[in-house]
Amino acid sequence: MSDTEGVVVLSETSAAVVTATLPAVQAHGEAITGRFYQRMFDAHPELLDIFNRGNQATGQQKAALAAAVVAYAEHLTGGSTVPWGPILDRIAHKHASLGITAAQYPIVGRHLLAAVGEVLGDAVTPEVAAAWDEVYWLLACELIAREARLYAGAGVPEGGAVWREWRVVEKIRETADVATFTLVPADGGPVPGFTPGQYVSVAVDLDGDRGQQIRQYSLSGRPGADHWQITVKRVRGVDGGPDGMVSSFLHERVAAGDTLRLSPPFGEVSAIGDGEPLLLVSAGIGLTPAMAALAHLADTEPERPVALVHADRAGAAHARRRELVWLQQRLPNLSVRLWYEDAADAELSGLKADVAGGLVDPALIPVAPESYVHLCGPVPFMSLVRSGLLRRGVPAERIAYEVFGPGMLH
Ligand SMILES: Cc1cc2nc3c(=O)[nH]c(=O)nc-3n(C[C@H](O)[C@H](O)[C@H](O)COP(=O)(O)OP(=O)(O)OC[C@H]3O[C@@H](n4cnc5c(N)ncnc54)[C@H](O)[C@@H]3O)c2cc1C
Ligand code: HEM
Repeated sequence: MSDTEGVVVLSETSAAVVTATLPAVQAHGEAITGRFYQRMFDAHPELLDIFNRGNQATGQQKAALAAAVVAYAEHLTGGSTVPWGPILDRIAHKHASLGITAAQYPIVGRHLLAAVGEVLGDAVTPEVAAAWDEVYWLLACELIAREARLYAGAGVPEGGAVWREWRVVEKIRETADVATFTLVPADGGPVPGFTPGQYVSVAVDLDGDRGQQIRQYSLSGRPGADHWQITVKRVRGVDGGPDGMVSSFLHERVAAGDTLRLSPPFGEVSAIGDGEPLLLVSAGIGLTPAMAALAHLADTEPERPVALVHADRAGAAHARRRELVWLQQRLPNLSVRLWYEDAADAELSGLKADVAGGLVDPALIPVAPESYVHLCGPVPFMSLVRSGLLRRGVPAERIAYEVFGPGMLH
């Protein structure tokens, strides 16, 4: 239920029940979501095509969903002061890019609550079930409303009909493990605009019984161009794990002339901020939003002060490095600082950059006063940089970041 100011509140009876049962649900969170997925996929095998089988295997998505429902219950019962707007936005954008519909919420709700009953057993009286049902639906309604707005904004005619065929017109090998795909709409229609930092979902049909899989890729080209670009790192299996399903497929099986199913652009994290000095900090394949941001600024705000800080294994592994020479010619106030673990081949003719060996030292990152900061890279890298910048007095609300997987920084 909602009060008159639109703030979502739990009924008093349910609040007391949820507070009393929260510790048990928290303690069994993983078991509950494990059972939930099993039940739901048994009843609705078609949903396997929209969930990420990699995250299922590594347990990442289980943790994300369990954490979201439990954290929301804590929030509703006054046990946490975490601002929920950004979390809801992140989930809604991700859902919209996957074409999640309002009609799918009762399915998830039914199996999630049944799983709570299965794991907690007799502790789940009808009263307890009703209270958790209320939590689920308060959260679901918030997400459904946000997703409806996103679909309307993206011109998706009915919720969920997000897919459009795009033709690969060029595949550029950037480094040994990274390729850029240039795409145009297969129907010859218009190319939608986007804000640097936004991503698209890409759906591919894998061989055998692996079905369809969907992944997100940040748009890495210039907004307003007559094509889109995505830049994909091929994920290799580590410690005996399998190679990444979709990135390997894109690298091995997709070539110029092929088509891919893409969603409209979604994503709530801007990589350009709003006119203030900009600090872009990236590592590895996390450079993709920054490349879109720089191309956009070269077009729209060439005088804007911008600092690009990028960390990579080596110059040869740094994808799209050559474009920085071109961008520097168009952005007179762009400074570039690079950290290469192996700095042996660091120099690139025409590029004016400070290059250091080893890992990024957050204390040495140049931050102009009032900067808007955008981070993108592995989570430990972003946590290190973010805490370093916070220590140096950069306010948390000026530091945006993009995680290339489920979840947010803690
Ligand atoms: C908003 C957003 C933007 C993104 N932008 C980009 C981008 O611009 N460029 C880019 O390259 N990527 C980007 N990503 C990441 C991308 O979406 C994929 O996550 C990435 O390509 C890996 O997908 P995959 O299918 O290849 O790997 P998956 O098959 O999903 O595997 C991922 C990992 O899980 C491990 N794994 C899978 N199954 C098992 C198992 N059974 N046992 C043990 N380990 C297992 C794999 O070994 C691998 O390490 C972005 C992600 C998000 C959320
Ligand atoms: C209240 C209900 C729901 C909650 C709280 C919820 C929560 C989440 C969260 C936290 C994520 C991870 C977001 C991130 O990337 O950070 C996510 C992703 C996802 N959700 Fe939901 N969700 C809900 C309903 C649904 C429904 C109804 C569906 C459709 C059947 C769905 C399908 C997915 C899929 C496919 C993903 C991406 C999976 C992945 O990448 O592994 N969700 N959701």
